[in-house]
Amino acid sequence: MRLTLIPQNRVFELDAGQPLLDTALAAHVNLPHSCKGGNCGSCRARLVSGTVDYPRGIPLGLTSEERADGFVLLCQAVARTDVVVEAREIRRVTDVEIKSLPCRVARLEQLAPDVMAVYLRLPAIEDFQFRAGQYLDVMLPGGRRRSFSIASPPHDAGLIELHVRRVSGGEFTEQVFSGMAEGALLRIEGPLGQFVCREPGPERPPGPVILVAGGTGFSPVKSILRALLEGGEKRAIHLYWGARHEVDLYQRDWLAARIERFGNLSFVPVLSSPAGDEATRYRTGFVHEALFEDFADLGDAEVYAAGPPALIAALRAGLPARGLPAERLYFDSFAYAPDATPGPVQS
Ligand SMILES: Cc1cc2nc3c(=O)[nH]c(=O)nc-3n(C[C@H](O)[C@H](O)[C@H](O)COP(=O)(O)OP(=O)(O)OC[C@H]3O[C@@H](n4cnc5c(N)ncnc54)[C@H](O)[C@@H]3O)c2cc1C
Ligand code: FES
Repeated sequence: MRLTLIPQNRVFELDAGQPLLDTALAAHVNLPHSCKGGNCGSCRARLVSGTVDYPRGIPLGLTSEERADGFVLLCQAVARTDVVVEAREIRRVTDVEIKSLPCRVARLEQLAPDVMAVYLRLPAIEDFQFRAGQYLDVMLPGGRRRSFSIASPPHDAGLIELHVRRVSGGEFTEQVFSGMAEGALLRIEGPLGQFVCREPGPERPPGPVILVAGGTGFSPVKSILRALLEGGEKRAIHLYWGARHEVDLYQRDWLAARIERFGNLSFVPVLSSPAGDEATRYRTGFVHEALFEDFADLGDAEVYAAGPPALIAALRAGLPARGLPAERLYFDSFAYAPDATPGPVQS
């Protein structure tokens, strides 16, 4: 069976059972993707001809309207016939090697009632290169994995910093809060993802850099923020961070020190469920609404956003009306994939 990508007219032989995205990536054709779990919608493409299956069930990231309109999610779709797919190839943003490495938990620090900083020490002989904004997978028994963004920037040769939010009943995150001790051994795989800070260059727009974080979406945003500030970025940087309560906006002293030191950084915290007098001291509502109120025209901006799928969806829906070209919205959706889902379904 064959996969033909248009408009490039590139043709690939398909391995039985292999998702279309994996075939393209294995051939070094960089199609848009993020979660690879069928949740974020980043790998959506139009099926021009042929038939695909979803062996793990219809993915959550594909609406019934999109299916009816002929869209498929390439990370989950498996061909049943020769297929022709219309998909946009993107310039390769990461040439770094993906490694599977053992590491030790060097330090744990509770940042908020349900957020723990986990600092990882990698083997001294291993060179772990990544780009600001990328994530890694913590490997669980049976090849299952859990994704966490890297909060530290690539130029910091110290520990790898993660911000782990506790998920009620979550296999890994509950363990971080109750069973994990400093010195614990983990296996990680990474770096992963295309949510990366763009390198300086002529194609960078002159306008502001907008960073939008929802909850622990602050983690990759912090990595990008550090890469920009410590790399001498001169453009204005506006950080919007949404959380439920004041206490969820952690590492505020760190942030305050950066705002004092770097004159081009501003910070807008936004609370969605303010309690007590929080409503008198903070912007309230959803973080994307605050951004939309503040900027009518983002035509010369770059936007980096990370956090829950609903936040990313709201930004993708609202930013084009503010003039932001789609290719200048870089995002990471913290969509989570179930370990297994039932039954093949055809499209
Ligand atoms: C690219 C990417 C980057 C991410 N980066 C971060 C990060 O930096 N920090 C962070 O805290 N999280 C991040 N996440 C989300 C994180 O991967 C999940 O919260 C985590 O895998 C949960 O693992 P668990 O074993 O504790 O829960 P599981 O045992 O997998 O899940 C237990 C139950 O909770 C549900 N569930 C799982 N995750 C979530 C969630 N996030 N919200 C609500 N319900 C959930 C499951 O469907 C299941 O019903 C990221 C996700 C992606 C895709
Ligand atoms: S990469 Fe396919 S849905 Fe996220």
